[in-house]
This record gives sequence, structure tokens and C-alpha cells, in this order.
Amino acid sequence: MSHVPAADRYDKLQYRRAGASGLDLPPFSFGLWQKFGTDHPYDTQREILLHAFDLGITHFDNADRYGPPHRAAQQVFGQVLKRDLAAYRDELILSTKAGNPIGPSPYLKGGSRKSLLTSLDNSLRDLGTDHVDIFYSHRHDPTTSLEETVGALVSAVQQGKALYVGISNYTPEPAAEVAALLRRAGVPLLAHQPRYSIFDRRPERDGLLKLAADQGFGLVVYSPLAQGLLTDKYLDGVPAGARAQNSAFLKPDVIDDTYRQRAAALNKIAADRGQSLAQLALQWVLRRPEVTTALIGASSTWQLDHNLKALDFPPLTADELSLIDEHGVHGTGQRR
Ligand SMILES: NC(=O)c1ccc[n+]([C@@H]2O[C@H](COP(=O)([O-])OP(=O)(O)OC[C@H]3O[C@@H](n4cnc5c(N)ncnc54)[C@H](OP(=O)(O)O)[C@@H]3O)[C@@H](O)[C@H]2O)c1
Repeated sequence: MSHVPAADRYDKLQYRRAGASGLDLPPFSFGLWQKFGTDHPYDTQREILLHAFDLGITHFDNADRYGPPHRAAQQVFGQVLKRDLAAYRDELILSTKAGNPIGPSPYLKGGSRKSLLTSLDNSLRDLGTDHVDIFYSHRHDPTTSLEETVGALVSAVQQGKALYVGISNYTPEPAAEVAALLRRAGVPLLAHQPRYSIFDRRPERDGLLKLAADQGFGLVVYSPLAQGLLTDKYLDGVPAGARAQNSAFLKPDVIDDTYRQRAAALNKIAADRGQSLAQLALQWVLRRPEVTTALIGASSTWQLDHNLKALDFPPLTADELSLIDEHGVHGTGQRR
């Protein structure tokens, strides 16, 4: 039977404006990077996606790469859209990205017009929709001119295949150039998607937060839990089924003594506030007004329910923030 969404789904979250645009996004958006593909039961994936929508999460983030195999996560979302959410397409903000390699062909990677627009057509077919709401260049390709990459993004909008455009993983200098080129083309940059968490301070250090505020684009920050490292799950080892057990992107060797000591100290700060480390870490990224939404993943509906409770706690105080700084050391748990 097709799902009937919760009637009170818009009473739960305070939506946040993406930069200078007119688009509101939920404080937490849902990403299908890991555990959405052919290696996990479809029913579990469907249950998590529909639960997210019931909680007021309107924004679902995808990419041609997500799976396994590549493109499978979009196909899962496409099935759920067709079966359960077709009547609610207008209430969804669907994003996809292109430009990270998905195969050996020169047209399955990079920032060329050929690569980006071909990928977008394939993503629309996978998702079963005639347009995405946000189309991203997944990463800067220094071998292709920004004019060409930006031209492809503009074409996507002009062809009605995307409503807004964004970039991801760009350092501030090319990001500023993209913003200027897009502005000139009459298609303002909606959002930048960087990694940002207590353990990844790059957007603070390299000036991206300031650039977003100055240029009027939103930040859709990913991996705010550092893929699960900013939860209590790895304090005593690697539990069965956890991402660090079976992901190419989070290896168990990052869970070393230094990590454990820092995570335990952060866990104590959270406990003193009556919350979990996950809730503290999520509140921490949302404290910044430049951050429009935090892109979270989840492998269960319990994680979603638990994480959204982060919104119920009082703001972090200046003392708490400086205590977090002592233990939230840039680079902890990261290998790239
Ligand atoms: N643009 C890019 O290049 C890029 C790169 C990476 C990600 N992203 C986007 O960002 C999204 C989110 O990234 P992410 O999944 O790394 O985000 P994250 O929120 O940092 O990590 C989510 C993972 O942490 C674990 N977790 C979540 N809540 C938990 C809790 N309360 N207790 C214990 N464990 C918990 C779960 O993993 P397990 O239960 O499986 O251990 C979950 O899948 C992606 O899906 C994608 O859309 C974009």
C-alpha cells in the first residue's frame, strides 16, 4: 500500500532560508550516500525515507555516484517517489550532483558540458522526475574552464531540468568565481555543499563561511556527524553493522586512542547538557547562520528520531563552544 504522510509534518521543523534565495530548506536534509543501494533491503531504505518526510524533511540529496553500484541510490529514491510520494513531488526538494568519476569513460567524470548534462539526464531517468530542484557540480575540475562548467549548470536551468544550481567541495577562490559567472548569467548560485563538523573546521579556516555570507549563497553542509564519529557508537569499539565496519570512506583505523579521547571528552560536554554527542554535534553546525541545512545520513528510523531532537535543546553557550574547541580538533578521524 502506498504511504500516507503524517498530516502534521510541517508543524515540526523551522525551515531556514538558503542564502539570498527565496528557497526554504529544513534544518536537516537527508542524504542517500551510504546504505542506499542494492546492498541493503529496499524495505528498510523506503521506511527511512518515508519517515524522514513524515518528520518534515523535504530535502533529499543524491548524486549519480551514490549506491552501490553507482546510480542505485537514485533508483531506490525513484521507486519510492513513484510508489509513495508521486502526489507530493511539489513538496520535495530533490538534488543531484555530477562530475565525480563514475566510470572509466572520459565522459563519466569531470566538469565538461558533456559529462554534467549527460549525467543529469541519466539522473532524471533514475529518479523518475522531469526536473531536479538543485543540480550541483560535485567538485571543481581544474582541467575544465569554470566558464564551461558554469555554462552547463546554466543550461540545466534554461532547459527546465533544474530549478537551482549549486557547487560542492570547491575551495573559496573558484567558488567566488562561479558565483560571479552565475550571477552574470542570471542564475544565482543557490548553495555550496562542503564538509563541516566539529572534526572538520575547513569552512571556518579557509573563509568559505564568510564567502557564503558575502555572496548570498547557502551552505548545505555534509557529514556533520563525521560519518558517525561524532556519536557515542565508537567509544568502545566498532559495533556490528556500523559504517566503519564496511565502508570504503570510513576505515576502522581512524578510531584510534586520540580519536577516542577527544570523542569521550565531547561526549561528556554533551552529557552535561543532558543530550547525546550526536545531538551536540548537529546543534553545533546549525549554530552558524551561514549554514542553511545539515545533510545527515541514517541507517535506521531510530537515528533520525534521535538526531532531530537536537533541535529541542537550548543554544550552546560561549563557554560550551570554547570547551568544544579544545577537543574538537580539525582532522580528527579523517584520512582525506
Ligand atoms: N558533496 C559531497 O561530496 C558529499 C560527500 C559526503 C556526503 N555528502 C552528503 O551528505 C550526506 C550525509 O553524509 P553522512 O552520511 O556522512 O552524514 P553523517 O550524518 O555525518 O553520518 C551519518 C551516519 O552516522 C551514523 N549515525 C547517524 N546518527 C547516529 C546516531 N544517533 N548514533 C549512532 N550513529 C549514527 C549512521 O551510520 P551507521 O549507522 O551506518 O554507522 C549514519 O548513516 C550524504 O548522504 C550525502 O548526501 C556529500
